[in-house]
Amino acid sequence: MNNIKDQVNLNQKRVLLRLDLNVPLKNGMICDHTRIDKILPVIEFLLKKKSKIIIISHIGRPKGKIKKELSLKPICKNLEKKINKKIKLIDKNIFKLKKDDLFKNLDDQIIFLENIRFYEEEEKNDLDFSKHLASLADLFVNDAFSCSHRAHASIDKITKFLPSYAGLQLNSELNALAKITSEIKKPVTCIIGGSKISTKIKVIKNLIPKFDNIIIVGGMANNILKYKGYNIGKSIQEKDCDEIIEEIFFLSKKENCKIIYPEDVNVAKDFSGSGIIKDLKNISDDEIILDIGIKSINKIINIIEKSNTILWNGPAGYFENQNFAKGSFEIFKKINEKNKANTIFSVAGGGDTVAFLNSLNIVNNFNFVSTAGGAFLEYLEGKELPGIKALN
Ligand code: 3PG
Repeated sequence: MNNIKDQVNLNQKRVLLRLDLNVPLKNGMICDHTRIDKILPVIEFLLKKKSKIIIISHIGRPKGKIKKELSLKPICKNLEKKINKKIKLIDKNIFKLKKDDLFKNLDDQIIFLENIRFYEEEEKNDLDFSKHLASLADLFVNDAFSCSHRAHASIDKITKFLPSYAGLQLNSELNALAKITSEIKKPVTCIIGGSKISTKIKVIKNLIPKFDNIIIVGGMANNILKYKGYNIGKSIQEKDCDEIIEEIFFLSKKENCKIIYPEDVNVAKDFSGSGIIKDLKNISDDEIILDIGIKSINKIINIIEKSNTILWNGPAGYFENQNFAKGSFEIFKKINEKNKANTIFSVAGGGDTVAFLNSLNIVNNFNFVSTAGGAFLEYLEGKELPGIKALN
């Protein structure tokens, strides 16, 4: 894999820079800045080399439609402030853009293209779309490790048309994860939470042979509870997961990996509610599961106590409302206690997990924190991620 930091001649070269600026937004406000802060080094590096930078990113899942609330505008504004440089956000249809339209003003050094997922061709890994994107630049840099599990046009096919390089952040995440996975000390526990059920549920099966315990919490646990016959009310869930869940339980027995899921939950009628702890059999139709309950917390703490390595991806509840942050906080507290005693190696990953840790200013209490969620899990599966394969 070629690294951009080893590339000598970048003077006036147009660099198509794929970043993951998929940060949590609330009413147009950025709730967590980690993913923006992590890519400042690559921007500063390219500016110093006098490159012309064309930034590509997605935010959310607009599924090929233009959605105003998923514009990159707030992020572009924020980045402008952080690097103290004017950035031009181009919302013109990408298909109508030509190389000569860009950087007409000689002082322009950075251009931002609007949310790349406004184009359905992106997720389809469309060859013509990739070719057109490539025609705007001289070389391509992937500094979005957290998107590298997606075989999308601006991550995968684009590399067919431009000399392609790994960015600084991608490189450091890959190196750190390679070291961690080669030195893992058993018993090893993986905590999987959050709300991206469709992405993560498929990964669990392949993780089973590698872990002693897999703890499933957050929205991820809802389908399991439903499969076990409990009413999950209005909680988020994914369709058609029963077959995968059946395989998960079958394999876990075979491989001697314990699957742990909530025994009790904290529910409310809406996301702004105050919460009430309930046994699984008492959840009613109009309730939403928003956190794990005390019994579940104690069980998880016990497992962490006996673990030598812990990998945590996805919060245990809707931590944005304090009433549902207890599960995640108690998990953190136990990991932190063991970290201080030097009896556990801890890794956390994923946009929401990092946002949770940042909200309490505790992000530095882990041995390593990855910006990646789905990509982090797929990396743990041992697969070569499509974005990495493309660079190789
Ligand atoms: C992430 O947040 O994990 C990345 O931005 C990828 O997002 P996706 O799961 O919508 O592809």
